Amino acid sequence: MISQDLQTVSIDLADRSYTIAIRGSLFDNPLSYAQLPKAASALIVTNTTVGPLYAERLQKALLLHYAQVHTVALPDGEAFKTWDSLNLIFDALLQHGCDRKTVLFALGGGVVGDMTGFAAACYMRGVPFVQVPTTLLAQVDSSVGGKTAINHPLGKNMIGAFYQPLKVVCDLDTLKTLPARELSAGLAEVIKYGPIADMDFFAWLEANIDAVLAREPAALAHVVRRSCEIKAWVVGLDERESGLRAILNFGHTFGHAIEAGLGFGTWLHGEAVGCGMVMAAQLSQRLGYVDAFFVHRLTALIAKAGLPVQAPVLDAFGNAARYLALMGLDKKAEAGEIKFVLIEQPGRAVVRAAPSAEVCQVIDACTAKTI
Ligand code: NAD
Ligand code: GLY
Repeated sequence: MISQDLQTVSIDLADRSYTIAIRGSLFDNPLSYAQLPKAASALIVTNTTVGPLYAERLQKALLLHYAQVHTVALPDGEAFKTWDSLNLIFDALLQHGCDRKTVLFALGGGVVGDMTGFAAACYMRGVPFVQVPTTLLAQVDSSVGGKTAINHPLGKNMIGAFYQPLKVVCDLDTLKTLPARELSAGLAEVIKYGPIADMDFFAWLEANIDAVLAREPAALAHVVRRSCEIKAWVVGLDERESGLRAILNFGHTFGHAIEAGLGFGTWLHGEAVGCGMVMAAQLSQRLGYVDAFFVHRLTALIAKAGLPVQAPVLDAFGNAARYLALMGLDKKAEAGEIKFVLIEQPGRAVVRAAPSAEVCQVIDACTAKTI
Protein backbone atom coordinates (compact mmCIF):
# COMPACT_ATOMS: atom_id res chain seq x y z
CA MET A 1 0.00 0.00 0.00
CA ILE A 2 1.12 3.58 -0.65
CA SER A 3 0.92 4.99 2.87
CA GLN A 4 0.11 8.65 2.53
CA ASP A 5 -2.29 10.92 4.32
CA LEU A 6 -5.59 11.41 2.57
CA GLN A 7 -5.44 14.51 0.39
CA THR A 8 -8.53 16.19 -0.98
CA VAL A 9 -9.06 18.78 -3.66
CA SER A 10 -12.42 20.54 -4.07
CA ILE A 11 -14.06 21.41 -7.35
CA ASP A 12 -16.23 24.44 -6.58
CA LEU A 13 -19.18 24.55 -8.97
CA ALA A 14 -22.19 25.59 -6.82
CA ASP A 15 -24.64 22.66 -6.71
CA ARG A 16 -22.30 20.57 -8.90
CA SER A 17 -19.35 20.82 -6.49
CA TYR A 18 -17.47 17.68 -5.52
CA THR A 19 -14.31 16.32 -3.98
CA ILE A 20 -11.28 14.52 -5.38
CA ALA A 21 -9.82 12.08 -2.83
CA ILE A 22 -6.17 11.12 -3.33
CA ARG A 23 -4.26 8.32 -1.54
CA GLY A 24 -3.49 4.60 -1.72
CA SER A 25 -6.00 1.98 -0.53
CA LEU A 26 -9.04 4.04 -1.48
CA PHE A 27 -10.95 2.41 -4.31
CA ASP A 28 -11.84 -0.79 -2.43
CA ASN A 29 -12.55 0.93 0.87
CA PRO A 30 -16.33 1.20 1.46
CA LEU A 31 -15.79 4.48 3.34
CA SER A 32 -14.76 6.12 0.05
CA TYR A 33 -18.39 5.85 -1.07
CA ALA A 34 -20.19 6.43 2.24
CA GLN A 35 -21.45 9.96 1.49
CA LEU A 36 -22.99 9.19 -1.91
CA PRO A 37 -26.79 9.36 -2.40
CA LYS A 38 -28.68 6.17 -1.61
CA ALA A 39 -29.78 3.94 -4.49
CA ALA A 40 -30.87 0.34 -5.02
CA SER A 41 -28.25 -0.42 -7.62
CA ALA A 42 -24.89 0.54 -9.02
CA LEU A 43 -23.19 -0.27 -12.32
CA ILE A 44 -19.41 -0.54 -12.57
CA VAL A 45 -18.25 0.37 -16.06
CA THR A 46 -14.76 -0.88 -16.76
CA ASN A 47 -12.87 -2.57 -19.59
CA THR A 48 -11.44 -6.00 -20.34
CA THR A 49 -8.00 -5.06 -18.95
CA VAL A 50 -8.87 -3.15 -15.78
CA GLY A 51 -11.93 -5.24 -14.88
CA PRO A 52 -10.02 -8.45 -14.09
CA LEU A 53 -7.56 -6.45 -11.96
CA TYR A 54 -9.92 -4.36 -9.85
CA ALA A 55 -13.67 -4.79 -10.53
CA GLU A 56 -14.29 -7.55 -7.99
CA ARG A 57 -12.72 -5.55 -5.15
CA LEU A 58 -14.72 -2.44 -6.08
CA GLN A 59 -17.90 -4.52 -6.29
CA LYS A 60 -17.29 -5.90 -2.80
CA ALA A 61 -16.87 -2.39 -1.38
CA LEU A 62 -19.98 -1.11 -3.15
CA LEU A 63 -22.15 -4.00 -1.96
CA LEU A 64 -22.07 -2.38 1.48
CA HIS A 65 -24.00 0.54 -0.01
CA TYR A 66 -26.10 -0.91 -2.86
CA ALA A 67 -28.24 -4.08 -2.87
CA GLN A 68 -27.20 -4.82 -6.44
CA VAL A 69 -23.88 -4.04 -8.07
CA HIS A 70 -23.52 -5.00 -11.74
CA THR A 71 -20.46 -4.77 -13.96
CA VAL A 72 -20.03 -4.17 -17.67
CA ALA A 73 -16.58 -4.54 -19.29
CA LEU A 74 -16.05 -2.62 -22.54
CA PRO A 75 -13.44 -3.52 -25.15
CA ASP A 76 -10.16 -1.82 -24.28
CA GLY A 77 -8.69 1.08 -26.20
CA GLU A 78 -9.15 4.48 -27.80
CA ALA A 79 -10.35 2.76 -30.99
CA PHE A 80 -13.39 1.57 -28.98
CA LYS A 81 -14.43 5.02 -27.72
CA THR A 82 -17.46 4.72 -29.97
CA TRP A 83 -21.26 4.57 -30.18
CA ASP A 84 -21.07 0.76 -30.14
CA SER A 85 -19.25 0.73 -26.80
CA LEU A 86 -21.56 3.39 -25.40
CA ASN A 87 -24.51 1.19 -26.33
CA LEU A 88 -23.03 -1.68 -24.30
CA ILE A 89 -23.43 0.54 -21.22
CA PHE A 90 -27.06 1.34 -22.10
CA ASP A 91 -27.69 -2.37 -22.80
CA ALA A 92 -26.40 -3.27 -19.33
CA LEU A 93 -28.40 -0.52 -17.63
CA LEU A 94 -31.63 -1.60 -19.30
CA GLN A 95 -31.06 -5.36 -18.99
CA HIS A 96 -30.54 -4.95 -15.23
CA GLY A 97 -33.59 -2.71 -14.86
CA CYS A 98 -31.54 0.19 -13.55
CA ASP A 99 -33.59 3.21 -12.51
CA ARG A 100 -32.74 6.90 -12.54
CA LYS A 101 -31.08 6.73 -9.10
CA THR A 102 -28.62 4.06 -10.21
CA VAL A 103 -25.04 5.25 -9.71
CA LEU A 104 -22.46 4.53 -12.41
CA PHE A 105 -18.84 3.93 -11.38
CA ALA A 106 -16.18 4.53 -14.04
CA LEU A 107 -13.33 2.16 -13.20
CA GLY A 108 -10.46 2.67 -15.64
CA GLY A 109 -8.57 5.27 -17.62
CA GLY A 110 -9.80 8.26 -19.54
CA VAL A 111 -11.53 6.23 -22.22
CA VAL A 112 -13.75 4.43 -19.71
CA GLY A 113 -14.22 7.64 -17.71
CA ASP A 114 -15.27 9.76 -20.71
CA MET A 115 -17.70 7.11 -21.96
CA THR A 116 -19.20 6.38 -18.53
CA GLY A 117 -19.74 10.08 -17.94
CA PHE A 118 -21.45 10.46 -21.32
CA ALA A 119 -23.64 7.42 -20.65
CA ALA A 120 -24.56 8.86 -17.24
CA ALA A 121 -25.46 12.20 -18.85
CA CYS A 122 -27.79 10.44 -21.32
CA TYR A 123 -29.40 7.51 -19.47
CA MET A 124 -32.90 8.54 -18.41
CA ARG A 125 -31.70 12.12 -19.12
CA GLY A 126 -29.09 11.94 -16.39
CA VAL A 127 -28.04 9.60 -13.59
CA PRO A 128 -25.26 10.14 -11.02
CA PHE A 129 -21.75 8.85 -11.61
CA VAL A 130 -18.44 8.51 -9.78
CA GLN A 131 -14.97 8.52 -11.31
CA VAL A 132 -12.50 5.87 -10.08
CA PRO A 133 -9.54 6.67 -12.36
CA THR A 134 -6.80 4.05 -12.65
CA THR A 135 -4.34 5.73 -15.05
CA LEU A 136 -2.12 8.68 -14.27
CA LEU A 137 -3.73 10.60 -17.12
CA ALA A 138 -7.20 10.02 -15.74
CA GLN A 139 -6.15 10.92 -12.17
CA VAL A 140 -4.52 14.21 -13.15
CA ASP A 141 -6.93 15.32 -15.85
CA SER A 142 -9.75 13.40 -17.49
CA SER A 143 -11.68 12.31 -14.38
CA VAL A 144 -11.89 15.93 -13.21
CA GLY A 145 -14.02 18.67 -14.73
CA GLY A 146 -16.96 16.91 -16.34
CA LYS A 147 -15.94 16.65 -20.00
CA THR A 148 -17.45 13.44 -21.37
CA ALA A 149 -17.39 12.19 -24.95
CA ILE A 150 -16.91 9.56 -27.60
CA ASN A 151 -14.88 9.93 -30.81
CA HIS A 152 -16.19 10.28 -34.36
CA PRO A 153 -14.05 8.86 -37.18
CA LEU A 154 -13.62 12.44 -38.39
CA GLY A 155 -12.69 13.98 -35.07
CA LYS A 156 -11.66 13.37 -31.49
CA ASN A 157 -14.22 13.70 -28.66
CA MET A 158 -16.70 15.28 -31.07
CA ILE A 159 -19.88 13.84 -29.51
CA GLY A 160 -20.29 14.49 -25.81
CA ALA A 161 -21.60 16.56 -22.92
CA PHE A 162 -20.45 18.52 -19.89
CA TYR A 163 -21.56 16.39 -16.95
CA GLN A 164 -19.88 16.45 -13.54
CA PRO A 165 -19.27 13.36 -11.38
CA LEU A 166 -20.38 13.14 -7.75
CA LYS A 167 -16.88 12.32 -6.60
CA VAL A 168 -13.43 11.35 -7.88
CA VAL A 169 -11.53 8.59 -6.06
CA CYS A 170 -7.84 8.59 -7.08
CA ASP A 171 -6.25 5.47 -5.64
CA LEU A 172 -2.50 5.80 -6.15
CA ASP A 173 -2.03 2.06 -5.60
CA THR A 174 -3.75 1.31 -8.91
CA LEU A 175 -0.87 3.04 -10.72
CA LYS A 176 1.41 0.15 -9.72
CA THR A 177 -0.04 -2.06 -12.48
CA LEU A 178 0.01 0.65 -15.16
CA PRO A 179 2.34 -0.13 -18.09
CA ALA A 180 5.33 2.24 -18.33
CA ARG A 181 4.17 3.60 -21.70
CA GLU A 182 0.85 4.61 -20.12
CA LEU A 183 2.60 6.29 -17.18
CA SER A 184 4.57 8.38 -19.67
CA ALA A 185 1.39 9.25 -21.55
CA GLY A 186 -0.13 10.54 -18.32
CA LEU A 187 2.92 12.70 -17.73
CA ALA A 188 2.11 14.72 -20.85
CA GLU A 189 -1.02 16.06 -19.15
CA VAL A 190 1.00 16.68 -15.97
CA ILE A 191 3.78 18.59 -17.73
CA LYS A 192 1.25 20.82 -19.52
CA TYR A 193 0.20 22.42 -16.21
CA GLY A 194 3.65 24.03 -15.92
CA PRO A 195 3.77 26.17 -19.08
CA ILE A 196 0.09 27.15 -18.81
CA ALA A 197 -0.11 27.89 -15.09
CA ASP A 198 2.73 27.04 -12.73
CA MET A 199 6.43 27.16 -13.64
CA ASP A 200 7.39 26.27 -10.05
CA PHE A 201 5.61 22.96 -10.58
CA PHE A 202 7.44 22.63 -13.91
CA ALA A 203 10.79 23.14 -12.16
CA TRP A 204 9.77 20.57 -9.53
CA LEU A 205 9.04 18.10 -12.33
CA GLU A 206 12.42 18.77 -13.95
CA ALA A 207 14.10 18.00 -10.63
CA ASN A 208 11.96 14.97 -9.74
CA ILE A 209 11.10 13.28 -13.04
CA ASP A 210 13.17 10.21 -12.16
CA ALA A 211 11.30 9.75 -8.88
CA VAL A 212 7.99 10.07 -10.71
CA LEU A 213 9.02 7.55 -13.37
CA ALA A 214 10.13 5.22 -10.55
CA ARG A 215 6.61 5.66 -9.09
CA GLU A 216 7.89 6.85 -5.72
CA PRO A 217 4.74 7.25 -3.62
CA ALA A 218 5.42 10.78 -2.36
CA ALA A 219 6.29 11.97 -5.88
CA LEU A 220 3.13 10.47 -7.37
CA ALA A 221 1.00 11.95 -4.60
CA HIS A 222 2.45 15.41 -5.26
CA VAL A 223 1.97 15.10 -9.02
CA VAL A 224 -1.69 14.06 -8.72
CA ARG A 225 -2.56 16.64 -6.04
CA ARG A 226 -0.90 19.64 -7.72
CA SER A 227 -2.34 18.71 -11.13
CA CYS A 228 -5.84 18.39 -9.66
CA GLU A 229 -5.46 21.72 -7.84
CA ILE A 230 -4.59 23.51 -11.07
CA LYS A 231 -7.37 21.79 -12.98
CA ALA A 232 -9.85 22.59 -10.18
CA TRP A 233 -8.86 26.26 -10.35
CA VAL A 234 -9.41 26.43 -14.12
CA VAL A 235 -12.67 24.46 -14.14
CA GLY A 236 -14.01 26.48 -11.19
CA LEU A 237 -13.57 29.67 -13.24
CA ASP A 238 -14.80 28.34 -16.59
CA GLU A 239 -16.72 25.05 -16.35
CA ARG A 240 -18.02 25.04 -19.94
CA GLU A 241 -14.97 26.40 -21.70
CA SER A 242 -16.25 29.79 -22.71
CA GLY A 243 -12.68 31.07 -22.43
CA LEU A 244 -9.99 30.20 -19.88
CA ARG A 245 -10.57 26.43 -19.82
CA ALA A 246 -9.26 26.13 -23.38
CA ILE A 247 -5.72 26.59 -22.00
CA LEU A 248 -5.98 23.00 -20.75
CA ASN A 249 -5.77 22.08 -24.43
CA PHE A 250 -2.11 23.10 -24.70
CA GLY A 251 -0.58 20.74 -27.27
CA HIS A 252 -3.97 19.28 -28.17
CA THR A 253 -4.60 21.08 -31.49
CA PHE A 254 -1.53 19.43 -33.03
CA GLY A 255 -2.02 16.33 -30.86
CA HIS A 256 -5.60 15.62 -31.92
CA ALA A 257 -4.51 15.89 -35.57
CA ILE A 258 -1.84 13.26 -34.91
CA GLU A 259 -4.33 10.94 -33.19
CA ALA A 260 -6.99 11.24 -35.89
CA GLY A 261 -4.47 11.27 -38.76
CA LEU A 262 -2.73 8.07 -37.66
CA GLY A 263 -6.00 6.41 -36.61
CA PHE A 264 -7.19 6.50 -32.99
CA GLY A 265 -5.07 4.30 -30.74
CA THR A 266 -1.93 4.24 -32.92
CA TRP A 267 -0.27 6.88 -30.77
CA LEU A 268 -1.60 7.17 -27.22
CA HIS A 269 -3.46 10.40 -26.47
CA GLY A 270 -0.70 11.49 -24.06
CA GLU A 271 1.99 10.77 -26.64
CA ALA A 272 0.22 12.95 -29.19
CA VAL A 273 -0.23 15.71 -26.60
CA GLY A 274 3.46 15.50 -25.61
CA CYS A 275 4.59 15.98 -29.19
CA GLY A 276 1.84 18.56 -29.74
CA MET A 277 3.21 20.64 -26.86
CA VAL A 278 6.64 20.71 -28.51
CA MET A 279 4.96 21.94 -31.72
CA ALA A 280 2.83 24.54 -29.89
CA ALA A 281 5.91 25.77 -28.01
CA GLN A 282 7.83 26.13 -31.27
CA LEU A 283 4.90 28.08 -32.72
CA SER A 284 4.92 30.31 -29.64
CA GLN A 285 8.63 30.93 -30.21
CA ARG A 286 8.15 31.71 -33.92
CA LEU A 287 5.49 34.27 -32.97
CA GLY A 288 7.95 35.92 -30.59
CA TYR A 289 6.31 34.99 -27.27
CA VAL A 290 8.91 32.67 -25.72
CA ASP A 291 12.61 32.13 -26.26
CA ALA A 292 14.56 29.10 -27.46
CA PHE A 293 15.66 28.28 -23.90
CA PHE A 294 12.04 27.72 -22.79
CA VAL A 295 11.33 25.52 -25.83
CA HIS A 296 14.50 23.54 -25.09
CA ARG A 297 13.52 23.02 -21.43
CA LEU A 298 10.04 21.86 -22.35
CA THR A 299 11.26 19.54 -25.12
CA ALA A 300 13.89 18.03 -22.80
CA LEU A 301 11.35 17.30 -20.05
CA ILE A 302 8.89 15.76 -22.50
CA ALA A 303 11.64 13.53 -23.91
CA LYS A 304 12.81 12.58 -20.40
CA ALA A 305 9.25 11.58 -19.55
CA GLY A 306 9.47 9.01 -22.36
CA LEU A 307 7.31 10.85 -24.87
CA PRO A 308 7.88 11.49 -28.58
CA VAL A 309 9.12 14.96 -29.56
CA GLN A 310 9.07 14.40 -33.33
CA ALA A 311 5.75 14.39 -35.15
CA PRO A 312 4.69 11.62 -37.54
CA VAL A 313 4.20 12.15 -41.27
CA LEU A 314 0.45 12.06 -41.92
CA ASP A 315 0.63 12.40 -45.70
CA ALA A 316 3.78 11.72 -47.73
CA PHE A 317 2.82 14.26 -50.41
CA GLY A 318 1.00 17.01 -48.51
CA ASN A 319 1.93 16.62 -44.89
CA ALA A 320 1.34 20.18 -43.66
CA ALA A 321 -1.93 20.38 -45.63
CA ARG A 322 -3.13 17.17 -43.98
CA TYR A 323 -2.31 18.56 -40.52
CA LEU A 324 -4.15 21.79 -41.35
CA ALA A 325 -7.20 19.90 -42.60
CA LEU A 326 -7.36 17.79 -39.45
CA MET A 327 -6.79 20.77 -37.17
CA GLY A 328 -9.66 22.57 -38.92
CA LEU A 329 -11.94 20.00 -37.26
CA ASP A 330 -10.68 20.90 -33.76
CA LYS A 331 -13.44 22.03 -31.39
CA LYS A 332 -11.64 25.34 -30.77
CA ALA A 333 -11.82 26.23 -34.49
CA GLU A 334 -14.25 29.04 -35.26
CA ALA A 335 -15.62 29.65 -38.78
CA GLY A 336 -12.83 27.44 -40.11
CA GLU A 337 -10.10 29.41 -38.28
CA ILE A 338 -7.78 27.11 -36.32
CA LYS A 339 -6.99 28.21 -32.75
CA PHE A 340 -3.87 27.23 -30.82
CA VAL A 341 -3.01 27.36 -27.15
CA LEU A 342 0.18 29.40 -27.19
CA ILE A 343 2.56 30.16 -24.35
CA GLU A 344 2.61 33.94 -24.03
CA GLN A 345 5.25 33.67 -21.35
CA PRO A 346 6.27 30.60 -19.33
CA GLY A 347 3.40 29.98 -16.90
CA ARG A 348 0.78 31.91 -18.92
CA ALA A 349 -1.18 30.69 -21.96
CA VAL A 350 -3.44 32.37 -24.52
CA VAL A 351 -5.73 30.96 -27.20
CA ARG A 352 -5.13 32.50 -30.62
CA ALA A 353 -5.12 31.91 -34.35
CA ALA A 354 -1.72 31.86 -36.05
CA PRO A 355 -0.60 32.57 -39.64
CA SER A 356 -0.70 29.40 -41.75
CA ALA A 357 2.84 29.98 -42.99
CA GLU A 358 4.21 29.86 -39.43
CA VAL A 359 2.11 26.78 -38.60
CA CYS A 360 3.37 24.98 -41.72
CA GLN A 361 6.97 25.84 -40.82
CA VAL A 362 6.48 24.29 -37.39
CA ILE A 363 4.96 21.14 -38.90
CA ASP A 364 7.86 20.84 -41.34
CA ALA A 365 10.44 21.42 -38.62
CA CYS A 366 8.88 18.93 -36.20
CA THR A 367 7.94 16.14 -38.57
CA ALA A 368 10.09 13.02 -38.64
CA LYS A 369 11.74 12.77 -42.01
CA THR A 370 10.94 9.09 -42.55
CA ILE A 371 7.55 7.41 -42.47
P1 NAD B 1 -7.03 4.59 -21.51
O1 NAD B 1 -8.28 4.83 -20.81
O2 NAD B 1 -7.08 3.96 -22.85
O3 NAD B 1 -6.08 3.72 -20.56
C1 NAD B 1 -4.81 3.38 -21.00
C2 NAD B 1 -4.55 1.87 -20.96
O4 NAD B 1 -4.21 1.49 -19.64
C3 NAD B 1 -5.72 1.01 -21.36
O5 NAD B 1 -5.25 -0.10 -22.07
C4 NAD B 1 -6.28 0.57 -20.02
O6 NAD B 1 -7.00 -0.63 -20.10
C5 NAD B 1 -5.04 0.41 -19.21
N1 NAD B 1 -5.18 0.59 -17.77
C6 NAD B 1 -5.90 1.52 -17.13
N2 NAD B 1 -5.67 1.48 -15.81
C7 NAD B 1 -4.77 0.49 -15.62
C8 NAD B 1 -4.13 -0.02 -14.47
N3 NAD B 1 -4.28 0.54 -13.27
N4 NAD B 1 -3.30 -1.06 -14.62
C9 NAD B 1 -3.06 -1.60 -15.86
N5 NAD B 1 -3.63 -1.14 -16.98
C10 NAD B 1 -4.47 -0.10 -16.85
O7 NAD B 1 -6.19 5.95 -21.71
P2 NAD B 1 -5.95 7.21 -20.76
O8 NAD B 1 -4.62 7.70 -21.13
O9 NAD B 1 -6.26 6.94 -19.35
O10 NAD B 1 -7.06 8.25 -21.27
C11 NAD B 1 -7.03 8.76 -22.56
C12 NAD B 1 -8.42 9.28 -22.89
O11 NAD B 1 -8.76 10.33 -22.00
C13 NAD B 1 -8.53 9.84 -24.28
O12 NAD B 1 -9.69 9.32 -24.90
C14 NAD B 1 -8.68 11.33 -24.06
O13 NAD B 1 -9.45 11.95 -25.06
C15 NAD B 1 -9.35 11.37 -22.75
N6 NAD B 1 -9.16 12.63 -22.02
C16 NAD B 1 -10.24 13.24 -21.52
C17 NAD B 1 -10.12 14.39 -20.78
C18 NAD B 1 -11.32 15.03 -20.15
O14 NAD B 1 -11.20 16.13 -19.63
N7 NAD B 1 -12.45 14.36 -20.13
C19 NAD B 1 -8.84 14.93 -20.55
C20 NAD B 1 -7.74 14.27 -21.08
C21 NAD B 1 -7.91 13.11 -21.82
N1 GLY C 1 -8.56 18.21 -20.64
C1 GLY C 1 -9.13 19.42 -21.10
C2 GLY C 1 -10.23 19.91 -20.25
O1 GLY C 1 -10.63 19.27 -19.32
O2 GLY C 1 -10.75 20.96 -20.50
